[in-house]
Amino acid sequence: MDSVLVAGATGYLGRRLVLELARRGYRVRAAVRSRTRAEQPGPFGSPSLRGSVAEWREGAITDPAFVTGLCRGVSRVVSALGVTRQKASPWDVDFLANLSILGDAEREDVRSFLYVNVMHASSGTSLILRSKAAFAAVLERSSVVHQVVNPSGYFSDVGEFLDMARRGVVVLPPDPDISVAPIHGEDLARFCVEKLRDTSGSWDVGGPDVLSYRKIAELAFAALSRRPRTITMPAGLLDGAVWVASRLGERPRDLATFFAEGLTRDAVGERYGTHRLADHFAELAHRS
Ligand SMILES: NC(=O)c1ccc[n+]([C@@H]2O[C@H](COP(=O)([O-])OP(=O)(O)OC[C@H]3O[C@@H](n4cnc5c(N)ncnc54)[C@H](OP(=O)(O)O)[C@@H]3O)[C@@H](O)[C@H]2O)c1
Repeated sequence: MDSVLVAGATGYLGRRLVLELARRGYRVRAAVRSRTRAEQPGPFGSPSLRGSVAEWREGAITDPAFVTGLCRGVSRVVSALGVTRQKASPWDVDFLANLSILGDAEREDVRSFLYVNVMHASSGTSLILRSKAAFAAVLERSSVVHQVVNPSGYFSDVGEFLDMARRGVVVLPPDPDISVAPIHGEDLARFCVEKLRDTSGSWDVGGPDVLSYRKIAELAFAALSRRPRTITMPAGLLDGAVWVASRLGERPRDLATFFAEGLTRDAVGERYGTHRLADHFAELAHRS
């Protein structure tokens, strides 16, 4: 049986990766900050890891001492490790921590390393995307067989549209007709696990529906049985938001740049999966 180290195992995607690997008979070693937290339900309705992990490693993934030997005895590494809502610097986590896991994987002769990147990371200017692109570039030049998966936005992120619709008005980005293909964590986890193999590759992937932001807003209002009310943000306002955020500090500026760039370009990729955003919104609307 193949054994797999999962980094970022407690996240929205990481939890689905662990469950999908376990379901397919992989032996999972999970690197987590807290097993207690991992065994509770996770962010955005993601599941508990109780019963799915064969071996726990608890510690600080940014500490090289914790990472040394982390890959010993596993045949593959899957990393969904990255800063989203957390406070740390993306450079320390997305780049340096992943780099230190890769170093250990090389020393321990693992067979493959799958990394969950972000679509269009290499052309982004935020520290989040530069950190991710830098790690993907190093991985692609390493001696380890690698898979780099570049997803579009996750269902967890577009949930914000439903929250805005609940408040009465959805604010659309300057070009509301840009195409995106949000993907559910379960579908993306399945896509990633299917790519675990002994040859290298890189894939842009999204969910089954290609949608404009305007359409996503309509789906959110439909789930709440409300008439759509939207405002389209003027392009200058997005620039202004980045300017204001940059006055508040490095991290707010970086997050604002990340979202501003993300909202102004298509993100579709290979269409994959079975979870439809309309059903997801309907389920969330029904639950509250
Ligand atoms: N959300 C999106 O729409 C989207 C789209 C494309 C790609 N991605 C990328 O996909 C990956 C997974 O995303 P996600 O939404 O599943 O993110 P998430 O829920 O925030 O999970 C991130 C994982 O990284 C860990 N992590 C972050 N900072 C850490 C730190 N300082 N020390 C230790 N662990 C840390 C988290 O641990 P804790 O649980 O302990 O915080 C968690 O396990 C990320 O790299 C993200 O950039 C996301």
